[in-house]
Amino acid sequence: MKSVNLNISFEKYDGIEELDEQDRALCQLAEQALTGSYSPYSKFKVGTAIRLASGETVLGSNQENLAYPSGLCAERVALFTIGATYPKATIERMAITAQTDAFEILQPVTSCGGCLQVMAEFERKQNSSIAVIFYCLNGEIMKIPSVQSLLPFAFVEDRLTGAKA
Ligand code: THU
Repeated sequence: MKSVNLNISFEKYDGIEELDEQDRALCQLAEQALTGSYSPYSKFKVGTAIRLASGETVLGSNQENLAYPSGLCAERVALFTIGATYPKATIERMAITAQTDAFEILQPVTSCGGCLQVMAEFERKQNSSIAVIFYCLNGEIMKIPSVQSLLPFAFVEDRLTGAKA
């Protein structure tokens, strides 16, 4: 038996003013994206802004549905938009934020496992890291250098070659 430890390193910031200009702008866009959220059921808005290597940014927000499982998280809305409209793009970084009137969010809201798996596929496809910034509107910000460090055990099977198509 061997015991194995995994460590992840990431950056923590006390507020948006501590970020460099590019990251601050991306967080502000994620905040803007909250306005597109359609979340009448959870009343929990999630917004994301994704910056491509070309400098373009793509926004996403959660889109819910009366048939609950038919809704989609903000991250996947934006990522699949990129897959569909910029299939050859390289993603540099993404910022994610959340807001609700029901309670105060005091910690950064992190992405669900399904979104992490989709992010992992984009990272693997483009063969370069995607930085993920979790932006708490009234609190800390976490900047994670890669999706791999967030989901080290992502489902991967190279013999299912679809990911390369
Ligand atoms: N949600 C996201 O948009 N991203 C996540 O990573 C987790 C959750 C959304 C889904 C749903 O509309 C609402 O937040 C409450 O779960």
